[in-house]
Formats: sequence, C-alpha cells, structure tokens
Amino acid sequence: MATPTISIDRTDPYHPPRSHLQLQSEAPITWVQMADGRQLWVLTRHEDVRAMLGDRRFSSDRRDPRHPSHTPYVGPDHRQQLIEMDAPDHTRLRRSVVGEFTVQRLAAWRPRIQEIVDEAIDAMLAGPSEVDLVEALSLPVPSKVISELLGVPYADHDFFQENSADFSRRDSTDEEKGKAIGHLKSYLADLVQHKVTSPGNDLLSRQLASGADLAEVEALGFLLLVAGHETTANMISLSVATLLDKREHLSALRDDPQLTVGAVEELLRYFSIAEVGAARLATEDVEIGGSLIRAGEGVLGLTNTANRDPDVFPDPDALDFTRMARNHLAFGFGPHQCLGQNLARIELEIVLATLLRRIPNLRLAMPFEDIPFKEQGPNYGVFELKVAW
Ligand code: HEM
Repeated sequence: MATPTISIDRTDPYHPPRSHLQLQSEAPITWVQMADGRQLWVLTRHEDVRAMLGDRRFSSDRRDPRHPSHTPYVGPDHRQQLIEMDAPDHTRLRRSVVGEFTVQRLAAWRPRIQEIVDEAIDAMLAGPSEVDLVEALSLPVPSKVISELLGVPYADHDFFQENSADFSRRDSTDEEKGKAIGHLKSYLADLVQHKVTSPGNDLLSRQLASGADLAEVEALGFLLLVAGHETTANMISLSVATLLDKREHLSALRDDPQLTVGAVEELLRYFSIAEVGAARLATEDVEIGGSLIRAGEGVLGLTNTANRDPDVFPDPDALDFTRMARNHLAFGFGPHQCLGQNLARIELEIVLATLLRRIPNLRLAMPFEDIPFKEQGPNYGVFELKVAW
C-alpha cells in the first residue's frame, strides 16, 4: 500500500484539516508522508499523543537531522533552546525558570495585564469605530506583557514582532529564517549584556543574578519573546472572531462572565493552534497504541485531532463552554508542556471579559468567510480581523 500523505489545508476554519481527521478515524497511528516529502509516524488519538509526549524516549533534540523539526538554517553556533533540549539539561534549565510562571506568581501580574488591556481598548475607543483587532489588541497585549516580564523595551516591538513572524512563517526561505534569527539573537545579546551592568526588576536580570551564563539567558530570552506573543495573539483573534460569528456563545458569555474560564479552556481545545508542535524523534524502540516505533524514526503527535477525540471529548466538534476541557493537549503534555500556559490563560480571560464588557456592541466588520486565516502554520491564527462597534 502507498504511504498516505497529509496536508494542512482546511475546508472549514473551525475544524482541523480534513486529512488529519480522516487519519484519526481510519488509521490513528500511521506512517505518513508529509507535504514536504518527509516520512514519519503520525499519532492522532488523545491517549497516544499524551503517551508519546510524556515518554522521555521521544527526543526534542533537533540537532539530529532525522528529527522532524530539524532546522538546518540555525547555524553551527546555535545555542539549544529549552524547547529543543532533553533531560537532564532540559530539567535543570526548566527548573531554573518555572518559578516565574506559576499561577501564584502570575496572579501578581493580573492588575498590570488588566491595565494593558484597558489602555489598548481606550486607544480603540478614541479612534475610528472600525479597526483591525490584530493590530489594535491581539498583538499589542501579549507583546507588551512579555516585554515587561522579560525586561525587553516595548518600544522595540515592531522589530521583534516582524522578525519572529519572518522566522516562524512556513513560507519563509531558510535564508530569510536564518536572517531573522540572526537579528533577534544579536538584539538579545546586546540586551542581556546591558542587563549585566544595569540589572532591572525582570526575569532576564533575575536569571543572570542566579548565576546563569550569558548565552543561556540570551537563548531563554529569545524563546520566551518569540513563544510569548504570537501564539497568544492568534488565540485572542480566533476567540473574538468565533464569539462574533457564533452569537449564541457571545450572549452566553455576556450573561454569565463566570463562564470565561471555561470558555478560554474550550477555545484552546477547539483551535489547538500549535498544529504541528509535538514533533519528536524516537531514541529507542517504543510501542505506542500497539504500533512499534523504531529508534531513529520521527513522530508527530497531532494535538488538533487529539483534542477532537470523541473518546475523551463527547461531541468533540461542538463548542461547549461548560465542558471542563482542562485535559486538552493545546499546550502539549509532559516535560515540555507550555511554560507560559498560565500567562496565556490570564491574558485570554482578561481580554475576552474586558472586551465584551467595554464594547458590548462589537461586531465583525468583514464577512466571516473573508477572514484571512493562517493556514500554513506553524500556528493557526488570523492575519487580520476587522471589527467595528
Ligand atoms: C495560547 C498560547 C500558547 C499556546 C497554544 C502554546 C503552545 C505550546 C505548546 C504546544 C508547547 C509544547 C511544545 C512541545 O511539546 O514541543 C509550548 C511550549 C512552550 N511555550 Fe507555549 N504556548 C502559548 C503561549 C506561550 C506563552 C505566552 C509563553 C511565554 C511566556 C510560552 C512559552 C513556551 C515555552 C518556553 C515552551 C517550551 C517549554 C519547554 O520546552 O519546556 N508559550 N507552548
């Protein structure tokens, strides 16, 4: 039998690509050819994706050319990022920073995040009554929050937003990606060097004070800056677009703001924006769900289909703010589970609650079908979202 192929093209903006869902119902663990020609295992069931991500025999180290996320453009001087490390290096580095992202620690940021959201909405209300929400709210809020947390001047946001977008866009050439990474790296190197002599009350200065070496702090700053803004921005835009399109959900949320926490969790499950985030390389022969994955083979856990697994989420295609969707895999699972998940949740909760309260007559200013969705990854989202009030 020919090796099946999968593509990331969607037929419906609310649902994972049809080829992904087809695999889940027909061949939940299978050897697949990707659109770019690479072959690897694709896992689509919740149980199997979770088992794989929780198993340290599956490596995140992308230096091995057989790793599905191997990136030839990073260059020989590349310092491994947290997300690319395996134990014990990963465990040590993650332990050194995880305290910055606990629920308790982030609770102290709530008032400041509320202020940042209110300022962005003040600016919207002070101008014309139609804006691109991506520019007015979805991008500036997480960018400002992560800048303040890290101690990166927000005045440089155009620079880091553009370079992060260039390097994460699937259609960028390796040369463009390499260039964008180079710009961000030298920016972080200058910033961290400056913090050595003039430390601030911020995460990067605290890492330096705790004895971390410069290159490690630069790499951590790079990852947090990049991972910390576009993902959350995409989720804000997708959530608002959905609420404005599916008005019954908007009304439910407006009538009962207590639903916001459940709504955020359900929207995270529903969109599972990190479509191909869970890529690993088997370092030993491992059996998953009855299939033998051999050492040296690549594996992709599709969290978007895992989060539509009917065995775990009854009626999975229904958007239901009252289902307790906390066991979704939108933030991954296991040792690499998203470090910024508590921050992303707080930002989403505050943005949605504040936007609905302060602009109750918000509506889409473009037909839903015309919204330009980011279909070519690596994260699902929208490029532009015209709204009016
Ligand atoms: C809705 C927003 C977000 C989504 C959907 C998301 C999703 C993910 C996923 C799926 C992973 C796991 C990748 C893997 O297993 O290889 C991950 C890891 C990570 N995320 Fe997020 N993320 C979000 C927001 C954030 C934010 C706001 C930050 C920073 C403050 C952040 C920082 C990180 C870091 C540092 C890792 C790597 C953790 C490790 O390797 O130990 N993310 N994220």
